Amino acid sequence: MKQLVLLALSSLLSFAVTAAEVPELAPEGDAAAGEAKSMVCAGCHGADGNSATGGFPNLAGQHASYIADQLANFKSKERDNAMMYGFASVLSDQDMLDLAAFYSAKAPKPGVAQPELAARGEQVYRFGDPDRGVAACAACHGPQGKGVASAKFPSLAGQWAEYTLTQLNSYKSGARQNAMMNGVAVNMRAADMEAVASYIQGLR
Ligand code: HEC
Ligand code: HEC
Repeated sequence: MKQLVLLALSSLLSFAVTAAEVPELAPEGDAAAGEAKSMVCAGCHGADGNSATGGFPNLAGQHASYIADQLANFKSKERDNAMMYGFASVLSDQDMLDLAAFYSAKAPKPGVAQPELAARGEQVYRFGDPDRGVAACAACHGPQGKGVASAKFPSLAGQWAEYTLTQLNSYKSGARQNAMMNGVAVNMRAADMEAVASYIQGLR
């Protein structure tokens, strides 16, 4: 009897090990399916992911991995936003991947910086504010603001300054939680946030 139980146990164990060794297929989104699912999003984010006003972020050209992550964060309320919770809470994991594939393949429309803010904005973007311990944005988001997909550093280039400023303030207050960005924003001066947000809108 004891031997039988042991036998059953060991075969169970070896099954578990084999299952764990099978490489998991990387989940993938279907951009065409995503387009069909994006109708409900278009009113705010634009039919092609370029929104009409700075109250709504552009999604066009954003990394798929980052978009899918944020949708999951809205759904779990890890990123607490009442408006997006309503839309994200009804999405399945596959819906999120499909929508992410659709928007990431769209071309972002270039924006412009306010000329009087561009010089200080560029300084903060490229070098941070060493006196206050603010890291250079370029170190993670790249010299052209395109981010790094594999590291889930989002693309910022061309994003509305209004939206960027809102997010920097949310990271500073802790309303939006991310260890890296909370550390960057906590010591930033309000004027520098405004300048760098404007510079980012002009990045392409
Ligand atoms: C009624 C307007 C509205 C609709 C419709 C809407 N969103 Fe949003 N979305 C917003 C707002 C506002 C934000 C910014 C939230 C914040 O400040 O955290 C946002 C943020 C996002 C973000 C995060 C972007 C980033 O750069 O971090 C993603 C991704 C997103 N929305 C995807 C979608 C998708 C996909 C749909 C459709 C299923 C959708 N949204 C529908 C208003 C909307
Ligand atoms: C150490 C790496 C790092 C540095 C340095 C950094 N960021 Fe980020 N940033 C990130 C990561 C990671 C995220 C995604 C965080 C999340 O999921 O909320 C992010 C997100 C953001 C977002 C939100 C984007 C969106 O679409 O919602 C903005 C805006 C931003 N960063 C601006 C900046 C600015 C401005 C600076 C420089 C003052 C900067 N970052 C420096 C890593 C970094």
